[in-house]
Amino acid sequence: GLMGYDPAFLNTANCKSAITFIDGDKGILEYRGYPIEQLAEKSNFLEVAYLLLKGELPTEKELEVFTNLVTHHTYVHENVKSFMDGFRYDAHPMSMLGSTVAALSGFYPDAKNIRDERSREIQITRLIAKMPTIAAFSYRHTMGLPYVYPSNELSYVANFLTMMKHIGGAYKVHPVLEKALDVLFILHADHEQNCSTTSVRTVGSSQVDPYSAVAAGVGALYGPLHGGANEAVLRMLRDIGHVSKIPEFIKQVKGGEGEKKLMGFGHRVYKSYDPRAKVIKRVADEVFEVTGKNPLLDIALELERIALEDEYFVKRKLYPNVDFYSGLIYEAMGFQAEMFPVLFAIPRTVGWCAQWEEMVTDNEQKIARPRQVYTGATRRDYVAREKRT
Ligand code: CMC
Repeated sequence: GLMGYDPAFLNTANCKSAITFIDGDKGILEYRGYPIEQLAEKSNFLEVAYLLLKGELPTEKELEVFTNLVTHHTYVHENVKSFMDGFRYDAHPMSMLGSTVAALSGFYPDAKNIRDERSREIQITRLIAKMPTIAAFSYRHTMGLPYVYPSNELSYVANFLTMMKHIGGAYKVHPVLEKALDVLFILHADHEQNCSTTSVRTVGSSQVDPYSAVAAGVGALYGPLHGGANEAVLRMLRDIGHVSKIPEFIKQVKGGEGEKKLMGFGHRVYKSYDPRAKVIKRVADEVFEVTGKNPLLDIALELERIALEDEYFVKRKLYPNVDFYSGLIYEAMGFQAEMFPVLFAIPRTVGWCAQWEEMVTDNEQKIARPRQVYTGATRRDYVAREKRT
């Protein structure tokens, strides 16, 4: 029979989900019904993680138990550390992150037990808890610095920053930067059926363990059209180099037949301003007050101003997305551009896990197995090798 042809799922719902709501025309994003702006202002990352995973905001006691659970699963097996040591010094940290998450599947054979609710909870806790450790280890490895072990008495974000930055003496996390990164983590925690989440669901639908499924998500997020965009934005701003060069750059984007893109602009779902980008602009001001302004900010602001007035971008409804300003903040905070996609993967792990849990417990879900429109040769007979021309 006739089947739907919908490359890249532009018009196909692949699942039912009760986690995240997006209205792309109005620029609305809600986690479990709560507007992203309210969560960014009033909540914190682990509370949002609880909300996404369990569907409701935690009570004081529930949050305490959850936080305690996460902070006590932050260590990785020493052999995981040795595994990471096997990479060359110039390995991209996102590549190290993905492979190491995949390796966890071998470290936790109990994770195969995906029909057991308690086991799923343990694996999800481990994933959320260990992601910052693996991320920081990846970075330290590429810098040739000794690994810093987790400190369980610190907040999720402060612990991560300490593992990243501690070099001798006592590293003290700046409270404004801690808060800023926490907000950025909230903004990145979930975004319904994006490329990486769809990958996690697709791989997970084979009933493989969640480490293998989440590793697929990291792989998808590594790409420059997805989580790699924040890194690409920074490189683009550096290439432009000066405000006076912007018009020339814009001209190239418009004439380039898709070859050159304005990175950090456009979105499959948002056809108006990305609500996350609005919050990020405010966070940027707070961070720059502490770190000093990122000199690339002027180029970014002018680029946005020109693009939002340019007919090409207006006609296509291309607005800044979450990645347009996040890289500027990360750079001001002292992160290398290679770490930007990693900084996206840490909080998105929560969304991947919430969506994986939802998929595994959904009776209507089966193994993902799309169909195709066959365009190859019709039936023909095998020709002996010596008779081929
Ligand atoms: N710069 C210039 N032109 C663009 C851009 C851009 N950033 N994005 C889309 N267009 C054009 C595109 O060439 C096409 O033009 P035409 O109709 O003349 O062929 C039109 O706009 C529609 O774009 P599309 O490629 O059909 O849209 P899509 O939904 O397939 O792609 C996207 C969405 C996010 C991949 C794309 O906008 C893009 O590549 N943006 C740059 C990369 C980026 O910032 N990614 C981050 C996405 S948000 C968070 C995340 O996932 O990490």
